[in-house]
Amino acid sequence: MLALVGLCMVLLVWWFSRPKKSPTTVPGPKPWPLIGSMHLLAGYETPFQAFTALSKIYGDIFSIHLGSAPCVVVNNFKLIKEVLIAKGADFGGRPDFTRFHKLFGGDRNNSLALCDWSSLQKTRRSIARTYCSPRFTSLQYDRVNNVGEEELDSFLAELSRLPHGQSCDVKPAVLKVCANMFTQYMCSTSFPYDDQDFQKIVRYFDEIFWEINQGYAVDFLPWLLPVYTGHMKKISHWATEIRQFILSRIIDKHRSTLDYNSQPRDFTDALLMHLEEDPNMNWQHIIFELEDFLGGHSAIGNLVMVTLAAVVKHPEVAKRIQNEVDTVTNNGARYPNLFDKAAMPYTEATILETLRTASSPIVPHVASRDTEIDGHQVNKGTIVFINNYELNQGKDYWEEPALFKPERFLTASGGIIKPAHFIPFSTGKRTCIGQRLVQCFSFVVLATLLQHYDIRAKDGVKVHPGCVAVPPDCFKLVLTPRK
Ligand code: HEM
Repeated sequence: MLALVGLCMVLLVWWFSRPKKSPTTVPGPKPWPLIGSMHLLAGYETPFQAFTALSKIYGDIFSIHLGSAPCVVVNNFKLIKEVLIAKGADFGGRPDFTRFHKLFGGDRNNSLALCDWSSLQKTRRSIARTYCSPRFTSLQYDRVNNVGEEELDSFLAELSRLPHGQSCDVKPAVLKVCANMFTQYMCSTSFPYDDQDFQKIVRYFDEIFWEINQGYAVDFLPWLLPVYTGHMKKISHWATEIRQFILSRIIDKHRSTLDYNSQPRDFTDALLMHLEEDPNMNWQHIIFELEDFLGGHSAIGNLVMVTLAAVVKHPEVAKRIQNEVDTVTNNGARYPNLFDKAAMPYTEATILETLRTASSPIVPHVASRDTEIDGHQVNKGTIVFINNYELNQGKDYWEEPALFKPERFLTASGGIIKPAHFIPFSTGKRTCIGQRLVQCFSFVVLATLLQHYDIRAKDGVKVHPGCVAVPPDCFKLVLTPRK
């Protein structure tokens, strides 16, 4: 017995005193002067396709210099979880691109998605949670449902004014219904579709959403800035106009009717009340937070457009959605709503399959301290790209990944199933706060459109791989009213 205890002691002493493996540097291509390895991204439709190709050479984690910025790319689910979950606190920063500052009044820390992690960010996320991540059984969820239904009349009226049977721009109407769903839900205000200022602001939000989904050489090569002066001015202008609209058309009215002794009427009230209670929040924080969340409507409008592109290419998908919506609404006796979702799994699965195939990038993270990934040393300031394109499209993760098959998200009994590696909204402490609103509003808009119209395209539809955005002036669609 004594010998056994002695042996255990020796083993324990050896285990704790053994020389520790020192972290190795991350393998990767040798950078060129000035441009680093940016030339290796050329020739691909999205940088993430290049990352997948490079991972075949250097492994599932590799380093790459973009300009002079040191970056690391993680390409498999295990490593992605290490970055986003296990070591989320080490990777809470965001890249310091000039464009990001221009969009948020000169300081990207004004933005919820582009700021570095901080206690302010924690507070901002927690104020938003009740409104932007409503639980299924909550009063807020009922409100999302009511707002969704209320906005459909003016949406359908707008669609009825489009020239039926001919190619036309459907995107503006889709964006406007999403914008009004957001302003009504978050600010108890909506706007007539022919309001010129509203139209302009919806367009600017969409321009910004497209902009933010693009990568520019200047992000990594700041010495190119003089070439981009006009572009930077343009994006600052869009953002300033949006801010002024929110102030004059939404916040001013709200402030004049706010009752601090009552429950907040909506997200805007909750923000204004928080301003009074929390000395760490200032006026600027409130405006930017509201602007950030209102801007979420563009993401949903674009997702609906990308889903329509898929539906046009796969008419059998449209038919199945129409069958579901006709069944739950008793052949069009009413509009579809959120409580129909459970009975319309194919419609939900179509949106999930669109998110998979569109494969919107996860905003890059930045190491906020010296740390490690998989035993490799990663220095503070390193930009970390999460290759969720590989998670969404890789043969190791999906059967026939190139095919558009909503069925892959359905169980044999017709329920929804999502594999753990499917993380279109990311995971961990910086996960998307708007994902429930995405699932709610995109469902209602898509189901209502297909309830009322057959949709096709005369001139083809172009979507962009690795991107849930389509350009502000995108493909046209032909709407034919259903009998
Ligand atoms: C197609 C729709 C959308 C997709 C695919 C999407 C996806 C994402 C992803 C991948 C992130 C990055 C998470 C990370 O860095 O780990 C993110 C962040 C974020 N999203 Fe979304 N999102 C969508 C719509 C929305 C909407 C509608 C809102 C607001 C209502 C929203 C609010 C945010 C915010 C505030 C963040 C930043 C969170 C943080 O950095 O702490 N998103 N989203």
